Amino acid sequence: MSERGANPRAAAALAVSQVLHQGRSLADVQPDQSLGRALCYGVLRHLPMLEALASGYLDRPIRGRDRQLKALLLGGLFELSWLNTASHAAVHETVAATGALGFSRARGLVNAVLRAHQRAGAPRQVEQPDALLASGHPRWLYLALDEAWGDKSPGIMAAANRQAPMWLRVNQSRVSTADYHSRLLATGLQAETSDWCSSALRLGQATDVTALPGFSSGDVSVQDLAAQLAASLLNPRPGDRVLDACAAPGGKTTHLLELAPGLRLTAIDSDADRIERIHQNLGRLGQTAEVVCADAANWAAKRLSAGDPDFQRILLDAPCSATGVIRRHPDIKWLRQPRDLEALSRQQARLLQGLWPCLAPGGTLLYATCSILPSENEEILAGFLAEHPDARCRHIQAPWGRWTGHGRQIFPGEGDADGFFYGVLEKA
Ligand SMILES: C[S@@+](CC[C@H](N)C(=O)[O-])C[C@H]1O[C@@H](n2cnc3c(N)ncnc32)[C@H](O)[C@@H]1O
Repeated sequence: MSERGANPRAAAALAVSQVLHQGRSLADVQPDQSLGRALCYGVLRHLPMLEALASGYLDRPIRGRDRQLKALLLGGLFELSWLNTASHAAVHETVAATGALGFSRARGLVNAVLRAHQRAGAPRQVEQPDALLASGHPRWLYLALDEAWGDKSPGIMAAANRQAPMWLRVNQSRVSTADYHSRLLATGLQAETSDWCSSALRLGQATDVTALPGFSSGDVSVQDLAAQLAASLLNPRPGDRVLDACAAPGGKTTHLLELAPGLRLTAIDSDADRIERIHQNLGRLGQTAEVVCADAANWAAKRLSAGDPDFQRILLDAPCSATGVIRRHPDIKWLRQPRDLEALSRQQARLLQGLWPCLAPGGTLLYATCSILPSENEEILAGFLAEHPDARCRHIQAPWGRWTGHGRQIFPGEGDADGFFYGVLEKA
């Protein structure tokens, strides 16, 4: 392993700068060590505030080509303010990491900035930040959320900057949630149930899946609470033909099969690498489904021309901005751009229109996203319903989220769940 790879602070600086300046996904570049990962998540969650703190200690900004150095410095500030590392060790190790990054000449600068922060009491924020800075979000997203949710938006953004818990989905076709809960407790793992969903357990502390009793034999899966609401909303009956149109990695596919064994389920995804994960999940849970790698709308058109369209249930868990899961993927805040939203809403509308003819009369289509932006949710359904007289929107009554006119929106952190949107369409 290279010196850089072995040094968690240097590895974090490298990963953060790859996310911010090369558009890489954090999942693809994050370091293996837990400290390195904690620094990446922390810096990406609190980036604007850390930059504001840093500029208070610097005479002049760090120039563009020293991006890794800047990321290292922000990591040092984050570590001093947020982590339990002894402060002298955090300063010493961050200064030492300049060498691993090839910035030895900046040792004095890093030392001076971190010591100044230490002397100031390692505050987590500058004095009297304005609302945008305090939100920790890019301006365009701050404005979009403010426009959509008004005085609720500061709370939504604060929740998106907090660490998400690990939720489990108990495979109730094999074991009751109460029995599995007891098994967790016997293993020393604390967990809590949710009023929203009978299969869900929230772990007191995240753990490796190998530590979960019965994971490899399919007694349990890892899935956020909000995502676990999909299967019962779609409510398939045994023997139904079900189309899961954007299925990878198969979280909702496998839940549907747990709820109603005997379903004839077709799972489609256009991403060949992600399709492999559907196979792995089906294999671990001992389930079977037809798995197809294709564009769902094109596949539906072919199915129609072959004269075999009818599915009683369709799940469209559409590709989206993922603005509801920023608490799990803080890189989304910096990777997503306003122009992406137009392309995403075009794609969402195209998929919905393309799949609709495959729904049998009397059938149900569940539209879902992990977005909290109306342009991907409410507006997609409103536009679709205006053009499809054979579609009716069902009012979802539920203890979670809020009714937006054609669906229900969950904000991130509500019920300790991810942000999600669900709309149910029924065909005349
Ligand atoms: C939100 S994720 C699905 C998550 C999945 N339903 C689950 O619960 O595990 C959206 C998926 O849509 C897929 N996708 C994007 N465009 C697609 C298209 N045109 N046709 C089919 N799948 C598509 C992506 O590859 C991605 O896996």
